[in-house]
Amino acid sequence: MCPGLAPIVWHDTYNQTVLENYYANHKITVGLTVFAVGRYLEYYLDSFLISADKFFMVGQRVIIYVLVDNYTNMQLLPRGRFRTFKVFRIKREKRWQDISMMRMKTIGEHITHHIQYEVDFLFCMDVDQIFRNNYGLETLGDSVAQLHAHWYQSRPLHFPYERRELSKAYIPVGEGDFYYHAAVFGGTPLQVLNIVQECSKGIMDDKKNDIEAVWHDESHLNKYFFLHKPTKLLSPEYCWDFSLRSQDITKVKLSWNWKNYKLLRVTD
Ligand SMILES: *[C@@H]1O[C@H](CO)[C@@H](O)[C@H](O)[C@H]1NC(C)=O
Ligand SMILES: *[C@@H]1O[C@H](CO)[C@@H](O)[C@H](O)[C@H]1NC(C)=O
Repeated sequence: MCPGLAPIVWHDTYNQTVLENYYANHKITVGLTVFAVGRYLEYYLDSFLISADKFFMVGQRVIIYVLVDNYTNMQLLPRGRFRTFKVFRIKREKRWQDISMMRMKTIGEHITHHIQYEVDFLFCMDVDQIFRNNYGLETLGDSVAQLHAHWYQSRPLHFPYERRELSKAYIPVGEGDFYYHAAVFGGTPLQVLNIVQECSKGIMDDKKNDIEAVWHDESHLNKYFFLHKPTKLLSPEYCWDFSLRSQDITKVKLSWNWKNYKLLRVTD
């Protein structure tokens, strides 16, 4: 464990029985937001939802908020016990960078209007992922960040943080502890609200200054967690890329789905 920093959750570093007993007496509802726009809907939404039904917070009450730009392509949803799906329509952005940046703003609006009254914990995830094993109570925390599979073994010096001072996402060379993946973040609804509001503020300020952070919303998320340390870190087992090899990884809970950006990022 890193001194002074939040614990990192790896497989088998927690006792499932203890957690389940605790939450048996503290009933909670866990929310999960997922955006599926353009071709992401056709290619990824089904496998994300079907695998979430099987592995995400099994036995807990779950509300999955699905944000789509086109209802027409929605399939009939799978529905396990204690699972609710709420589907919302969002406006379409032209550039994929804008889609991913607008996500922050949209999540904030939904938390303010209803999510804060509906769940105790909230995760926000990218749709191009598949759950592989139980993704459970051990991941819950006030403010949860995901270690990026490609960067968790690197030194901060090499992280792809935004390095231009003009951007609100700027992090000086040599500073920072981890590079976080924007494909997964979470916490209590009010904490997530703070995260997405700060990130959207940074994004909008950058737009005014005619600069766009190197990894878009992810750069701003890294800046947020640089300023406000997360209380829980998820090991790369919680968002693994199977094109990588590592002996650290014993049980993958969630993995990247294949990506074909050429196909996906066309927004005709
Ligand atoms: C988990 O905790 C329970 C209850 O304290 C204990 O009986 C069990 O042996 C623990 N399991 C492991 C794998 O440590
Ligand atoms: C929504 O999807 C349907 C079916 O694929 C398609 O015919 C329609 O044009 C789409 N609408 C928009 C606004 O993209």
